[in-house]
Amino acid sequence: MSLPPLAQVSALLRHRRSIKPADLDPHRVVETELLTQVLEDATWAPNHGLTEPWLFHVFQGAARHELAEKLQQAYRDTTPATEFREDKLAKMGQSPRQAPVVIAAVMKRHGAGGKIPEIEEIEAVASALQNLQISATAAGLAGYWSSPAVVDAPEFKRWLGLDKADRCVGLIYLGWPKADLSWPRSIRRPLAEKVIWHS
Ligand SMILES: Cc1cc2nc3c(=O)[nH]c(=O)nc-3n(C[C@H](O)[C@H](O)[C@H](O)COP(=O)(O)O)c2cc1C
Repeated sequence: MSLPPLAQVSALLRHRRSIKPADLDPHRVVETELLTQVLEDATWAPNHGLTEPWLFHVFQGAARHELAEKLQQAYRDTTPATEFREDKLAKMGQSPRQAPVVIAAVMKRHGAGGKIPEIEEIEAVASALQNLQISATAAGLAGYWSSPAVVDAPEFKRWLGLDKADRCVGLIYLGWPKADLSWPRSIRRPLAEKVIWHS
């Protein structure tokens, strides 16, 4: 098997950007075959004990409207009055309707009989989501990882059919970027600030 050159992989990793639902083409369908491949790629992430602690709820079409309503309901029910924001509520209703695909990413707790700590299964799901985003970027798709507090609210989890120990770690919005979108730039601080070399 021939692997892509490192320079191409680095370029792909650096090209990925968080693209908001408003910048996705609402009319362009993401083919099921492509979506399936991207999800399959996600599952090739490392995971301790091979517990594969991921579950992906994929919302498309009319199901996105129901998702939007459930998010808004959970926000209304769980947000203290002092923190409640009408603009946030409105956005929760809008975003799932703007993106052709929304994936609720779940850490389905396995634990392998208590051998694998919860954090490691969350970390495995995070790795899977990075795989997913990189695979999607390679295909020309765009999106972002959103983590509103409501996804971990008991009633939202119940609606997703999750057990108490499971966690919904976020929503991945996905679609084709609008044709006129100018790809955003981002920055990372110099590596020297973040690495301590030992020899
Ligand atoms: C665990 C996680 C949760 C995130 N949650 C949000 C979020 O709720 N809202 C948001 O705007 N971006 C969220 N992001 C995306 C970051 O804001 C984004 O990655 C960061 O701004 C860097 O931009 P880039 O992804 O284009 O490099 C999240 C990213 C991660 C890894």
